Amino acid sequence: MSGMERITGTASQRDIVRLYAEHVSAPKAQFFKDLGIAFVQGERHGIYLKALEGLRKGQPPLELIDCRTSGGVFNLGHRHPAMIQAMKDGIDAGLDIGDHHAISEQRALLAKKLAGLMPPGITKTAFCVGGGEAIDLSIKLARGITKRKRIVSAEGAYHGVTGLALAAGDARFKDPFGWRPPDFLNVPFGSAGAMEATIDDSVAAVILETIPATGGILIAPGGYFRRVRELCDEAGALLIADEVQAGLGRTGKLWGIHGGVHENERVIPDIIVLAKGMSAGYYPLATCSYKPFIEKVFEQDPFVHISTTGGSELGCYVCGKMLDIVSEPRFLDHVKEAGARLGDGLVAFKDEAPSIVVDARGRGLMWGLEFVNDRYGHGFTLKMIENGVFADYCGNRESTVKLMPPLVTTLDEVDLIMGRLNAAFGALPRPK
Ligand SMILES: Cc1ncc(COP(=O)(O)O)c(C=O)c1O
Repeated sequence: MSGMERITGTASQRDIVRLYAEHVSAPKAQFFKDLGIAFVQGERHGIYLKALEGLRKGQPPLELIDCRTSGGVFNLGHRHPAMIQAMKDGIDAGLDIGDHHAISEQRALLAKKLAGLMPPGITKTAFCVGGGEAIDLSIKLARGITKRKRIVSAEGAYHGVTGLALAAGDARFKDPFGWRPPDFLNVPFGSAGAMEATIDDSVAAVILETIPATGGILIAPGGYFRRVRELCDEAGALLIADEVQAGLGRTGKLWGIHGGVHENERVIPDIIVLAKGMSAGYYPLATCSYKPFIEKVFEQDPFVHISTTGGSELGCYVCGKMLDIVSEPRFLDHVKEAGARLGDGLVAFKDEAPSIVVDARGRGLMWGLEFVNDRYGHGFTLKMIENGVFADYCGNRESTVKLMPPLVTTLDEVDLIMGRLNAAFGALPRPK
């Protein structure tokens, strides 16, 4: 060990929280302190995430099962051996970020792999660093190809914090900045009628999360996406699927919109945006995959949209290895089986205590547990963490707690999660 610098656990949890408040974000540190969960993430492995220390003085280090997975970043859990190997192999083979203007073997290979996995006809991919950037690009492509401006999205949606992604999101994220851009319309999610009343030939695109995550893990009624697709076709508008959280096998199918939300509904959007899990937990990567006719936007100037570190060659290589795993039919079947088990447990909460639980809904390993009010959403978040489950309430629907364990969670581990959730649930106050 001599000569090796200590990287983690360099100070006490308290000192790191103080340092974070001083140099990163005092309001965030205060928020966690107020909730009583100001822990610092430490060692992590598989489905587990440890804190450097306990929540309170003298307690052993908090050991959590990661059911947040950062919205799917850790779809394969933490420190997946194949991903670590791929990182090492990629570096040893000489891969780095690569020059984004030059032609790239790794980007070409990953784009080809994606084309083979996407719903039919989506064969082109542009690379970005994060989800917001990829959403921005999808909206630029829709506007560029249709020569229209209007973008329709869902109330409560979250597509990122960059310009156009922010514009397409819920008002909550725009209002603090005094920004309500025209040409961006929010309609209630899941209402075909609202779409019928809104989509016309001034609309460039409809953009939807296939399972709105920040909005509260909402499941669209059967036929919804099919109807939106029809309306887009009639109006000459594009359909953009934000699969940043619901894609990559999360629903037990590779894509939410193509059989993941409703098994018999395989809707083909014009553009699919991916991020989070594309990083395999190690190298930030996001993609905007689209049908070839959209490429016309780049004909006049192929450099009209670029991303210096988007589509790092090392990231592309690792991502390809991740895709090999999550696209395996046996892997997807496992997600379904494990998800059904988790879902049964959550639905039982509703049956047991209908006075505090309104709904349990989800697909695959993406579940929302909706309480009667926000206070319960906040309270259950704290109780879950105290009982060893790292998960939280949805930002735009705080009454609903979101559970997204790693896709590699075994059936026994689902039982372990349910045991901890039961303890957390039992600790909630019941109305008198
Ligand atoms: C559905 C969805 N789309 C887009 C984004 C934006 O991704 P990023 O944070 O990588 O910009 C997020 C992030 O949480 C998301 O949940």
